[in-house]
Amino acid sequence: MTALEQITFNAYHLPQYRNTWKLSHIIETQQFDIPTLFNIFALAKELKKTVNYGNCHYLENIRVVSQFQEASSRTKNSFEMATSFLGALLASSTENALEFSSLVKGESQADNFRMLNQLHPDIIIVRFKNTGDAKLAASVSQIPIINAGDGHGQHPTQAILDVDTIYNELGRLDNLNIGLVGDLRKGRTVRSLAYLMAKFKQNKIFFVSPPSLSVNEDIKDYLNRHHVVYSEHHNLLEVAKDLNVLYMTRIQKERGSEITPNEQVSVSLTEAVKQILPTSAQDCIVMHPLPRGPEISPDFDQDPRAKYWKQVENGLFTRMAELLMISNPEKARYLVDNSKNMVLL
Ligand code: CP
Repeated sequence: MTALEQITFNAYHLPQYRNTWKLSHIIETQQFDIPTLFNIFALAKELKKTVNYGNCHYLENIRVVSQFQEASSRTKNSFEMATSFLGALLASSTENALEFSSLVKGESQADNFRMLNQLHPDIIIVRFKNTGDAKLAASVSQIPIINAGDGHGQHPTQAILDVDTIYNELGRLDNLNIGLVGDLRKGRTVRSLAYLMAKFKQNKIFFVSPPSLSVNEDIKDYLNRHHVVYSEHHNLLEVAKDLNVLYMTRIQKERGSEITPNEQVSVSLTEAVKQILPTSAQDCIVMHPLPRGPEISPDFDQDPRAKYWKQVENGLFTRMAELLMISNPEKARYLVDNSKNMVLL
């Protein structure tokens, strides 16, 4: 290895040399290490302050492409608002891209990204219908790709905002009992979140789902390999009182998931929230990636443990942090390092 090759190798492979301020493709949560996550959280906190003061145009010469091949309200608006707050240009935004892009004419996903690369954007944010397409896009794209959700694969930027919310609300990310509830078979947010929470010490994960929608083997393999304690349940009533985090999800009907009538009795998500939370688990925070189904009634929104609307706001700041760490990592680091001395005008 030449000296230059050694430096390059170190920069990518050795933790002590890895630049934990620089992000490139964001594809799946396994790619993140703890220092990088804490940098995102610290930066998000600083950016929240600057948003409140209306002064955070740190990406003025950056051009962002946003392409949503599947429906979205939160992620699309969140990224586009993050782009705007940072003063970057949302150069192209395609909604419903499976209808309004040349994918409908049979253009391959790889060619879609080869084409976008030729137009010299700085960041491409994409939601994919097909699981695995985010990895495929990254394999052909020189431009950083942000996976805004791929089929029933992953939703890494959602999981980052989820973990940021847990940290903000509970002040720690270890020694937690976390209930992941609902459609664990097709829900990508719980998959991404399980990978992230497995990085922190002594967390226990309680998977609660109807039998037909239980968590996939790949997640269980990962948790086994990383010595993370988990258990599987079909009834939330069994575990809710012991939880620090109750993360509810809806049934992914658009991906063919359904609860059969006899399963409904065993899970009873809405009932569990109604029955258990008023009387026990007083310190437990209740989260949901949204949109919600019947599993959490709007009546619960005023309960101080309900954090799902807070999650939406936190997502704006963590996504701003991700955009800044992709396109201007020096500024990102500077903002956090100098946060105490910063004078906001
Ligand atoms: N949480 C989430 O991904 O919501 P959207 O599908 O509305 O983006």
